[in-house]
Amino acid sequence: MGLLTGGGDCPGLNAVIRAVTKSLIHHGRCEVWGIADGFEGLMESEPRVRRLRWEDVSGILHVGGTMLGTSNSANPLRDAATTERVAGHVRALGLQVIVAIGGDGTMSLASGLAGATGLEVVGVPKTIDNDIAHCERSFGFDTAVATATDALHRIESTGSSHHRVMIVETMGRHAGWLALEAGIAGAADVILLPEIDYDLAAIAAHCRAREQRQRYTIICMGEGAKPRGGQQTVREHVAGSPDPVRLGGVAHVLRQQLQPLLDSEVRATVLGHVQRGGDPTPFDRVLATRYGHHAAQLVLERRFGHMVTLRHGRIASVPIRQVANVQRTVPLDHELVTAARDIGVCLGV
Ligand code: F6P
Repeated sequence: MGLLTGGGDCPGLNAVIRAVTKSLIHHGRCEVWGIADGFEGLMESEPRVRRLRWEDVSGILHVGGTMLGTSNSANPLRDAATTERVAGHVRALGLQVIVAIGGDGTMSLASGLAGATGLEVVGVPKTIDNDIAHCERSFGFDTAVATATDALHRIESTGSSHHRVMIVETMGRHAGWLALEAGIAGAADVILLPEIDYDLAAIAAHCRAREQRQRYTIICMGEGAKPRGGQQTVREHVAGSPDPVRLGGVAHVLRQQLQPLLDSEVRATVLGHVQRGGDPTPFDRVLATRYGHHAAQLVLERRFGHMVTLRHGRIASVPIRQVANVQRTVPLDHELVTAARDIGVCLGV
């Protein structure tokens, strides 16, 4: 069995690697081989793989990142020659099944590879964005919420001292789960999500009202948040850039848009990769262990083509084809959205 971590890293990957490997060794029915740097480890002329034994995965439960390495861009299906090379390595190594720990992109590549090479696949959902379809909670999300909440808390003490409007940008390119939960836990006054296009005038009005009373405002903004149609988009604002979000963050764009409308000074902080790094919380260690253990069970029961998941708080599985390249965004009638509104949080409209 081959084991790989694909896409952006997230706290808890090592806990999954440990649980999959130890569970399979415990049952003694297959060898586990770790593949380096996601699919990249199978795409080069020499495969980069190594046998994982019990002691190789001991002492890593609490450690952030991934001991196997990962890559964002490796596509084993990018052309026929690459796919054939990967298939050749799979045959030569005697790999029958791959456990792919990744997001929707990794799930899509894994199932494509299964079709092209005959390799069987089991998936484990991973992302701090918590946006994988049919999965209530991906491991890593809890840790990222805790990190972003801590940052909001710190920002509040400096923001309130200087009577400023403080914008804090969280990750979450397509879905606002992280901004929403961290925003609520960190007592943000304004929460901006990719799912709700914001109205600059509404945000400014909320900040101006607070200028009179509380004299500071905390805005928690998901990186995918954008202004309502008709207003300038982030992409237009940073003209000529293929990926303006990476150039400094949408928080800086909002800061420039908001400053002329307010008396208070506006400051922006982009939390960035600090949210992906660090050690997993106890919740994520437990969830990652449950996912890894269940993935091993799926391998042993030969229930291939499935991704482990959490449904109504219980471990379950779902066909990978149902999750590949689909994002789970925040529904506009979600209970947390309603709760935020009802406790006076401005959602940008
Ligand atoms: O894992 C997804 C994510 O956290 C997105 O929210 C964010 O846009 C992206 O990772 C950043 O990835 P990179 O490491 O490539 O900058």
